[in-house]
Parts: sequence; C-alpha cells; structure tokens
Amino acid sequence: MSEQKCPFHTTTAGAPIADNQNSKTAGPRGPVLLEDWQLLEKLAHQNRERIPERVVHAKGWGAFGTLTITKDISRYSKAKVFSGIGKKTPMLARFSTVAGEMGAADAERDVRGFALKFYTEEGNWDMVGNNTPVFFIRDPLKFPDFIHTQKRHPKTNLRSNTAAWDFWSLSPESLHQITILMSDRGIPVSPRFMNGYGSHTYSFWNEKGERYWVKFHFKTQQGHKTLTNAEAEAVVAKSRETYQEDLFYSIEKGEFPKWTMYVQVMPEADAEKTSYNPFDLTKVWPHKDYPLIEVGVMELNRNPDNYFAEIEQAAFSPSNVVPGIGFSPDKMLQARIFSYADAHRYRLGTHYEALPVNAPKCPVHHYHKDGSMNFIGQKTGNVDAYYEPNSFGGAVATGDTSEPALRISGDGDRYDHREGNDDYSQARVLFEMFDAGQKERLFSNIAASMKGVPDFIVKRQLVHFEKVHPDYAAGVKKALA
Ligand code: HEM
Repeated sequence: MSEQKCPFHTTTAGAPIADNQNSKTAGPRGPVLLEDWQLLEKLAHQNRERIPERVVHAKGWGAFGTLTITKDISRYSKAKVFSGIGKKTPMLARFSTVAGEMGAADAERDVRGFALKFYTEEGNWDMVGNNTPVFFIRDPLKFPDFIHTQKRHPKTNLRSNTAAWDFWSLSPESLHQITILMSDRGIPVSPRFMNGYGSHTYSFWNEKGERYWVKFHFKTQQGHKTLTNAEAEAVVAKSRETYQEDLFYSIEKGEFPKWTMYVQVMPEADAEKTSYNPFDLTKVWPHKDYPLIEVGVMELNRNPDNYFAEIEQAAFSPSNVVPGIGFSPDKMLQARIFSYADAHRYRLGTHYEALPVNAPKCPVHHYHKDGSMNFIGQKTGNVDAYYEPNSFGGAVATGDTSEPALRISGDGDRYDHREGNDDYSQARVLFEMFDAGQKERLFSNIAASMKGVPDFIVKRQLVHFEKVHPDYAAGVKKALA
C-alpha cells in the first residue's frame, strides 16, 4: 500500500505548523510562553465549539436525499417541485426527539420531529413536521408552558411526570396526541420505521389562483416497527445512539430508506362546512372525506460528511414556502412562522441562511446589508444597487408569484379556544381502532408515566379518559392499581 500523503498542518491564518505535540516553553520544564500562538488559537477554538442547542428537538439524526414526483398534482399547486412526473428535487431530512437534550438516549418515549428541506428551483420549501398528525395544543400562547413541562424542573433539575400530567389534565385538547404518544407508536425503532406528517393545514394554490387546503403525509415504506417500554429500556441499556446507528449505517450499506408522499386536499369552501375546525392542529381530517392522494417518493441516500456543519447547523422553518404552497389560518402555524427564524438567528447567527446546508440552490437576491460574520457581501445583483427602488439594475420583485388573497374576517379579540371544540371524539375514534393488546399497552404506558403524580392530578385526567371512552378510564385505573 502506498503511504498516504497528508496536507501540511497550518494555523487558521495559513502559516505552517512545525510541531503540534509540544507547547513552546522556557526550558524543557519551564512555563508556557505567551507567544505560543498555536496553543492559544487551539484553546480559544475549543472554547467556542459549542453553540446553543435547539430549545426543543435538540437530539437529532439527519441525511440527504431526493424527492421524486410520481403523480401529477399540478391542478392543486403550481409549485415547481411538483411539476411533472419524474421530477427530482434534492432534499435534507432531520429527525429528532422533542424533549431530550443533545445527549439524550434515542429510544425514549416522545414525539419525533420530521423536518424536511427541499432545495427547489424557486427557493427552499421546508416541511417541519412530526411523526404524529396532531399536536398537544391548539393555541400557540400555550407552547412555552407546555415545553416547560417536558423539560427539567428548575429545582430538582429532573424531568417531572407531575408537571406533564398537571398540564395535560388542564388541557384536554392534548388527549388525541397523548393517546398516540402512549400507544405503540410512541417509541419507533428508528426514524426509518415511522411516518411523517406536516400536521398543520397548509394551502396550495394553482396557476388559476385557486386555493385548496392541504395536509402532508409521508408514509414509511419500511413498515412500522416500534419498541415496548421494556424493549426500549433494554435497548438504551446497551446503546443510547440506536437511531444514529440505524440511519447512518443503513445508508452507508446502500439500504436507502423511502417514504411515499401523499396529500389530503380540501376545497377552500369546505372549511366552512366541516363539523370540526379544519385549522385545529389537534384534529385530523377523516380519510374517507379527504382521501390520500399520492405525490411522490422521498429517498434518503447520502450521509452528511460533517454532522455539525450539515445537521446541527441545519435551520428548518415553516416560514420557508415557495409559490404554490402557502399557510392557513391555523394559529399554531402562524406562531411557528415567527418562532423558527428567530431561533435560528439566535442559535446560528444573522446569516444562517447562507450556510452551505441552508443555502438555496437557486439564485438569491436581497437588500439585507452587513451584519456579523457577513461572508456573502451584497446580494442585490449590482454593487451600486444597495437600496430599493434603484436605477442601477438591482433585483426587483417578480409580481407574478403573489399568492391569491386569503379570505379572513372577524373582530380582534382573545377567543376561548375550547368553545365549540370537541376534544374527545377523535381520541375516541383512535382508541376504538386499537386491538386488545394495543389497549393494554396504552394503559400500562400511561400508568408508568404517572409514577409519582399526585392523586388529584391523576383523578382529573381519568375524568378526561372517561369522556373519551369508559374502557379507557377503567383500563388506566386498573393499570395504576
Ligand atoms: C423545533 C418552536 C410547534 C416540529 C423548534 C424550535 C423552535 C420551535 C423554537 C427550534 C428551532 C431551531 O433552533 O432550529 C415551536 C413553536 C411551536 C412549535 C413556537 C408552536 C407554537 C411544533 C409543531 C411541530 C413542530 C406543531 C410539528 C408539527 C418541530 C421540529 C423541530 C422543531 C420537527 C426540529 C427541527 C429541526 O430538525 O431542526 N420548534 N414549535 N413544532 N419543531 Fe417546533
């Protein structure tokens, strides 16, 4: 074997390093000299290796791949990512748990994040979803409080079952999501074996300017594989990194995981007619009313070369949409449109969208100027055009990509989100779909997670289970006993 020729080692300023093993000292035993710049630079860099972890979804696993369109949905959306059967768009996926910190074990019971970035020719489209079609709350004002219950107690610095069940029992809109979380689906074997959902209602609009409401679904082609609590404990006892191992090595071996992409589409006017609020994130749209329409196949086929640069620094945001895809009146979605880019500016810095993993693969022109660590200069298209409007050939707005007007009305007020919303029926439909074994595991998973929770909170929660189904409350009661 020929000897590998290595590049020579330099300082960050490019000067050759003669010795990377011995500090510069006054004599062989002597103190270090302040002029040992190599040492100073090395220590200073180490001190800056950590950046803030994501405030939620801190532990994650990701890979690159492709979305290939298999069916024509251009009558619903003009987005070029859907234009033509066989169309391929490069993409990035990051999966995550919600509550655990960066070092948390992978096989923990939790909702999983399912974040996708499609590098389309019209800009990046991010679908920042979960492995569940619904969520715990429907009003964003409750999100920071909800997350506080999932994170550590300020005094004990431990996770608190009491906080979780206190909040849930006071927020019955969480029942549908709790029932999924505590079911078999609550601990997938790895991200390869779970579905992804956009969860919110988004909108599509077509060339004619017609709007449709839409929900996104990504169904695993690997099938569902889940762990029971006991299996997960055994897995975690051996390895805390089972998702990273499974995803990374299956891609290294050429076993590329795939998901079929579907949409549910609702004509704009139907939103006035459904018995449920179609913009309520705690609800699904029944498939019999709004069947799944196939769109394409997503395949993950390339591991990142550098986890930090390409996965930790990845910035997904529901605000990243492209012409043909839009938002909806879902309050939760609107809060997320603000929250993510704000988090990215804090976590990664002003120019996070210019980092290679986040940079669109199409031309980018804007009038934002300067800022910390600006390595991109001006992006206006002409050096003399650094304001708008200008006479020097700077980028101008397209005009033709505006979205059709969104019909909204109503008096500005704080409306009780409980009023007119049924928190029990859809949880009941799900509960009734479980077979006897699934129900038993649901009851015992809930009982296990109620360990140490004061009686009055348990009782308050049992009232909600009773309203879903008497068997639900009875089963949990028995499991608790
Ligand atoms: C991550 C806020 C609801 C899915 C995050 C982050 C924030 C956040 C600040 C960290 C972002 C970063 O540092 O990169 C919120 C707020 C919500 C909300 C304010 C409600 C009002 C949801 C919902 C879903 C979701 C409903 C799924 C349907 C995710 C995912 C990530 C994430 C998948 C991780 C993205 C990644 O892999 O980088 N969220 N979130 N979140 N959130 Fe949310």
